[in-house]
Parts: sequence; structure tokens; C-alpha cells
Amino acid sequence: MTQKMGFTSTCVREIKENRTTDPHILPLYATSSFAFTDIDQGIRIFSGEEQGHVYGRYGNPTIETVASKIAKLEGHDVEGAEPGCILFSSGMSAILSLILGTLKSGDKLLTQANLYGGTTEQFQKILAPNGIKPVFSNLSDPESIELQLKSDSSIKMIYGESPANPTLSCIDLKNIGLLAKKYQVISVIDNTFATPYLQKPLQYDIDFIIHSTTKYLNGHGNSIAGALVAKDAEFLQERIWPVMKLAGTNANPWDAWLLHNGLKTLSLRMDRHCQNAQKLAEALQAEQSVVKVNYPGLVNHPDHALAKKQMRGFSGMLSFELSGGLQHGLSFMRKISFCKLAPTLGDVDTLILHPASMSHLNIPRDVREAQGITDGLIRLSVGIEDFADIHQDLTQALA
Ligand SMILES: Cc1ncc(COP(=O)(O)O)c(C=O)c1O
Repeated sequence: MTQKMGFTSTCVREIKENRTTDPHILPLYATSSFAFTDIDQGIRIFSGEEQGHVYGRYGNPTIETVASKIAKLEGHDVEGAEPGCILFSSGMSAILSLILGTLKSGDKLLTQANLYGGTTEQFQKILAPNGIKPVFSNLSDPESIELQLKSDSSIKMIYGESPANPTLSCIDLKNIGLLAKKYQVISVIDNTFATPYLQKPLQYDIDFIIHSTTKYLNGHGNSIAGALVAKDAEFLQERIWPVMKLAGTNANPWDAWLLHNGLKTLSLRMDRHCQNAQKLAEALQAEQSVVKVNYPGLVNHPDHALAKKQMRGFSGMLSFELSGGLQHGLSFMRKISFCKLAPTLGDVDTLILHPASMSHLNIPRDVREAQGITDGLIRLSVGIEDFADIHQDLTQALA
């Protein structure tokens, strides 16, 4: 354009000079679409002849860079693994997009009762009325899994979470991988609590891995997103990417960029989460008013041996039961001052939750108790602060 641009046009137009080509840190591409150099390039990109970005809902360089980092982390040191990953708007949308892309009405998925509550609700309230039925079972019992797979050919997926809320129970990933192969069903593990630093489901031939990246992967409590990692990157692109594109379950670049910052310190944070949680679990066990501590790092946890076999560390989540039920649970929570009362997990600071009066307030007592959520149960997401500060807060509240 040779003619001098008007003032308003100068305001409106993008200036493309002065854009460095090699920024040290991942740029945040806050753009809803991508311009073509000319109509011919537009045609080539739309027809798939040339690789390129088109529209933010279909893909964005910031988001894809973060997704490829998560794929590398899940595949790290796993022989022969070249997984793919798609980032979604949340953990919940990653789960839904996976199921919409793989199952159809009439199919069933075999799962466990003690999943994250939102996942159970999604299965019951969104999938079941649309013909995809969840079958709740004990995924720690290989015989019962095999029996169900043998007797019901409409089961097409096994969906597990390990470790799982609130008792931090673990399931044997090797068994799940083997049974899924034997009966040709899809295997999925929610690896949110463990992260790929502590546990790599791909080692056990698991097909898909779910992350609420909102938790440990981000670690700083400032972004919501979800990741779906697939052993078969091509399948992911062919079957799940169209669901993301057409259901609009894509992540946004800002949340992805924040997640990218968090990922840089994942291993350091996880080491510290594990150390603090182990010390705290041991200290809590010695407290008179604590009836029981659930932490897979404790030798008396029912899944300690299994967790030791399939995890590098036991993560930062634990729960403990106070004697004195609801009354003691509430008065303990009122005394807490250093730890933060917040309904999430995996942040750098210690977060505490009393499920009976908070996250599970509307769930009938018998239903929540069946999952180990008693009136006196306290859930802790142990942070990376100085151990003495966390410990002191809990002991003064217990006293
Ligand atoms: C184990 C687990 N999976 C999935 C989710 C859902 O993730 P999001 O809240 O990012 O949608 C959560 C949320 O707490 C979770 O704890």
C-alpha cells in the first residue's frame, strides 16, 4: 500500500514489523484466527496440502506447544512410545471429548465408584441418558473385571483413576492394560494425582491418559485446562481432534501459557510435595485424635506395595480421619489458619478440605460413607512450603 493510511486505519491494522522471530520464552498467541499470505496459501492450508493454522478453535501454536510437552513427559523413557496430546478447556472436557470420540450409544464403560465426583456425575448425568452407560465396579479386583468383560461385550472401555480420592486407593495399571488388550477394549487412566513425573501409564500399555492440568501440572492455581494423551497419536488426531473442533472443547492460549510456566518446575515441585506429604502422614499417624491416615506412602496403606511398584513417589495428596465425627471435623477446620480452605488440589500451597461439609454436603451420608468419606474425614493437598509451618498449623488445630 503506497497511499498514507488514515489515523483510524493505523489504530486498527496489525503492525507486523519488529516481531522477533526467536523469542526465548513461548509466545502467547492471543489470536482467534491466522492470516494467509494470499488466496493460494489459504487454499493449500484449507485443503491440507500445506500445514498451517486457520482458526483458534482448531489449533493455536501456544496450545500445541504445551500439548506436545505433555506428550513428551508422558512418553519419557517409555520404550517405543510416541504419544500425542490434545489440550482441552478443562479436565472434564478432555474426558467428554475422549468418550464422544470413541464410544456410541449402546456401549458401556467399566469404571470405579471412587472417581473424582465430577467425572462420576458426567458419566451419570450426561453420558448415561445418551445411551453410554457407566458400570461401577472394583477396578482393584482383576477377577471381577475379567468376569464383567467376559459376560458383557457391550463394555468398550475401562476408565480408572489412580491414586483416587479420598482414600488414595490405587489400581494395578499393568492388569488394566493386559485385560484391556485381551478383551480389545479401550483403557483410560486419570493420572491427575500422580503426574507423569511419578507414574507413566503408557509403560503399562494404557491407551489414553487424562489430566486435569488445573492441578499439579500447572501447580500455581491460576489456569483451568485438561489434557488427553494417547498412545496412538494418529488415532487422536483422526478421532478426537474433530470432536474438539466441532464441540468447541479446545483450551484457550492464556491458560495454556500459564500451564507452560508451571510445567517447568513440575519435577522439583513433585519431589517436595512427596517429601512434605510423607512426613506429614507419619506425623499425623502419631496423633491421638487421628483415627486413620490415608497415604499410599505409609507402609500400612492397603495399596502401598502396588503404589511402590508403579509410582516413583506417592504424591502430595492425603486424607485423615478425626475421632469425634462432624463436630470435631468442623471445629478442626475453624482452627486452621496457615493452610488454605479451597476446593482444588495440586497447588504449591497447602489446601485443606472437609468433604462432609464442603464438596460432599449434598451427597447422602450413606452414599459418601460407602466411598470412605466419613464425617471426620479431612483431605489435604500438601504444598511445598516449609514443613514446620504446615505441621504446626495442623497440630495446633488438632490440639
Ligand atoms: C482426578 C480429577 N480428574 C478430573 C478433574 C476435572 O478437572 P477440571 O476441574 O480441570 O475440569 C478433577 C478435578 O478436580 C480431578 O480431581
